Amino acid sequence: MSLRFSHSSFLLSLLFIFLSSIPAILALQNDDPTIKTMQDFSGYPVDEPTHSSISVSLSVPLSIDNQTLPKQIDELSTFSDAPDPAVTRVLYTDKDVLGRRYIKNLMGLAGLSVREDAVGNIFGRWDGYEPDLPAVATGSHIDAIPYSGKYDGVVGVLGAIEAINALRRSGFKPRRSLEIISFTSEEPTRFGIGCLGSRLLAGDVTLAKALKATVDGQNISFLDAARSAGYAQDQDDLSSVFLKKGTYSAFVELHIEQGPILEEEGVAIGIVTAIAAPASIKVDFEGSGGHAGAVLMPKRNDAGLAAAELALAVERHILESGSLDTVGTVGILELHPGAINSIPRKAHLEIDTRDIDEKRRNTVIEKIHQSANTIAKNRRVNLSEFMIVNQDPPALSGKSIIEAMEVASKELNLTHKLMISRAYHDSLFMARISPMGMIFIPCYKGYSHKPEEYASTEDIANGVKVLALTLAKLSLS
Ligand code: GLV
Ligand code: MN
Ligand code: MN
Repeated sequence: MSLRFSHSSFLLSLLFIFLSSIPAILALQNDDPTIKTMQDFSGYPVDEPTHSSISVSLSVPLSIDNQTLPKQIDELSTFSDAPDPAVTRVLYTDKDVLGRRYIKNLMGLAGLSVREDAVGNIFGRWDGYEPDLPAVATGSHIDAIPYSGKYDGVVGVLGAIEAINALRRSGFKPRRSLEIISFTSEEPTRFGIGCLGSRLLAGDVTLAKALKATVDGQNISFLDAARSAGYAQDQDDLSSVFLKKGTYSAFVELHIEQGPILEEEGVAIGIVTAIAAPASIKVDFEGSGGHAGAVLMPKRNDAGLAAAELALAVERHILESGSLDTVGTVGILELHPGAINSIPRKAHLEIDTRDIDEKRRNTVIEKIHQSANTIAKNRRVNLSEFMIVNQDPPALSGKSIIEAMEVASKELNLTHKLMISRAYHDSLFMARISPMGMIFIPCYKGYSHKPEEYASTEDIANGVKVLALTLAKLSLS
């Protein structure tokens, strides 16, 4: 008996300790530096109030056109500079311009009013019955890195058009206008900066200025390239692209997961709660070059070997972080003059590194910089450039958007799970001007950024349905 008494009083004291610590836990959460950083960064409170989910009544249930959408994905993939099934569609090239035409045509057929800004972000709008309210936006990108697949970005643009068509077929009338955005250059391929269009929409003044002097690998300026595709005609000032905070009440992006989790776990829908923090760096080493036979080894200062050593140092610093969430890639390594019998005189590397923990990623960047200096000294080459091109914070999804996506998945009887995005997306930057959310669908073995990328018609249709219902809810809210 006394044992039982002391046992229950022990439990009571535990309960008391727990309850009295709740205010401290809450205070701790409010002081959480990561949340503060993200709030300062996005301008939106992370704990924005959630509102109970709006129910959407449709005269006909949502149905996705499973014939047309896969056909459109295949058709768009033919505008490519790589042979099928690979896709290469680089910013402002002829194939990109053809792809853009294809999208604008489909937007027109969907009854949307189409406009483009000075860098070629494409907008297609379905006016709501309260058109002066901030609109609800969705979209993704159609540019494709060299030798990639058909689905990255494309599912979020063509899928958004099909979501609008499905809503129209079901008799839905939007209160807030719905707007689809096909973003310019989500991929960094041509000018070295990813999410170029969405960064500008979010008001990146530094980028708008830098683009006036930016050139590609062929020394073609950004503005000349934009003009050749029909953009930036009379203006050097790209600030016309900036959108005001509050232009959109919500932004939702549909995308393939680009990782294996949903497929492995047999879950239909991923609801993204946060996007990892990306950074990219350009490095140049310069040595003396010379004849591959005549210059003896002790006399050499080989820029290529400095680059090779730095690539290995990147891997070492990433692994030293001790976390699987820290990743780093040297995706570009160019040697000059690039002849078998010439010691590389110049070497150029581009390094991509990401983490869900911004501070840890920044520590890796510092270590890479130290290694670049040490390697240059030891190999008697010149570190002529170490440029951090972008070093972005992570972004959190808006709570009310997460809730709308969750309720939509439940109402559609689709299995779903909360997850983070390790890839970056235009949503990372739209989060600066609007509460944001992302819907992920499974893709084959998690493959992406290679020709084997694949998402099934059924998985795409599920994602489009969740997108349509989420847009409908947010439009009525
Ligand atoms: C986007 O394409 C990324 O590299 O995450
Ligand atoms: Mn991509
Ligand atoms: Mn993408």
